[in-house]
Amino acid sequence: MKVKRFSSMDDLYSHAVATIVEAKNNGATTFGLATGGTMEPLYAKICKTDIDFSHCISFNLDEYVGLEATHQQSYAYYMNKHLLNQKPFLASYLPDGLAVDPLVETARYEGLLQQYPLDFQLLGIGQNGHIGFNEPGTSFASLTHLVTLEESTRQANARFFSSIDEVPRQAYTMGIQSIMRAKCILLLAVGEAKREVLERLLASDYTEDVPATALSKHPNVMVLTDLQEEENKL
Ligand code: F6R
Repeated sequence: MKVKRFSSMDDLYSHAVATIVEAKNNGATTFGLATGGTMEPLYAKICKTDIDFSHCISFNLDEYVGLEATHQQSYAYYMNKHLLNQKPFLASYLPDGLAVDPLVETARYEGLLQQYPLDFQLLGIGQNGHIGFNEPGTSFASLTHLVTLEESTRQANARFFSSIDEVPRQAYTMGIQSIMRAKCILLLAVGEAKREVLERLLASDYTEDVPATALSKHPNVMVLTDLQEEENKL
């Protein structure tokens, strides 16, 4: 796992854009995308470039259960607003939060992922170490599945809703194995709240208690962070 630390957020996000452009220039056409606060400046920057995704396919990591695509807090809405309206892909896939049968929906989504293997996967990280919505304890062998969100995840995401009661309790997420199949992974860990989990990730533990540590076994992961190494740490 390679780590690059930045003292300027602008440099961090410029580097992330450059990494995506480089992957694309090297032939990547299938991109796994993430949502969340960390990704907003990245998508804003991408929208200012002339990068063209019109021959590419995108997959999102996750979607809340129970929110229609037009709901302002659905990830479908987020993606259209922050990226896809300005930078359309040939096709963009997200799990369907209103699917009637979770088993059919997760099998459908996993089938699509296997049909169009990911060349590139973008990841944020939760304070509890989640990637996608794979909460602590998720099997590293997991495929796309239905999850019950941890209370801490709901609290962390409540800032996007008018009250905690509105935050869905379940979501669909790509599994750890689905993520690990991507040829190349770019993880952004931004902000002081991510310090502890970043340290655990970089300590190279390999434990399902911290889902992101699965990445320590992936051959091509780049982590970008604004967090500097703490000096005088024993
Ligand atoms: C979102 C996702 C999540 C977020 C993580 C960090 O699609 O998969 O794993 O990346 O919760 O969220 P922020 O960036 O809001 O701190």
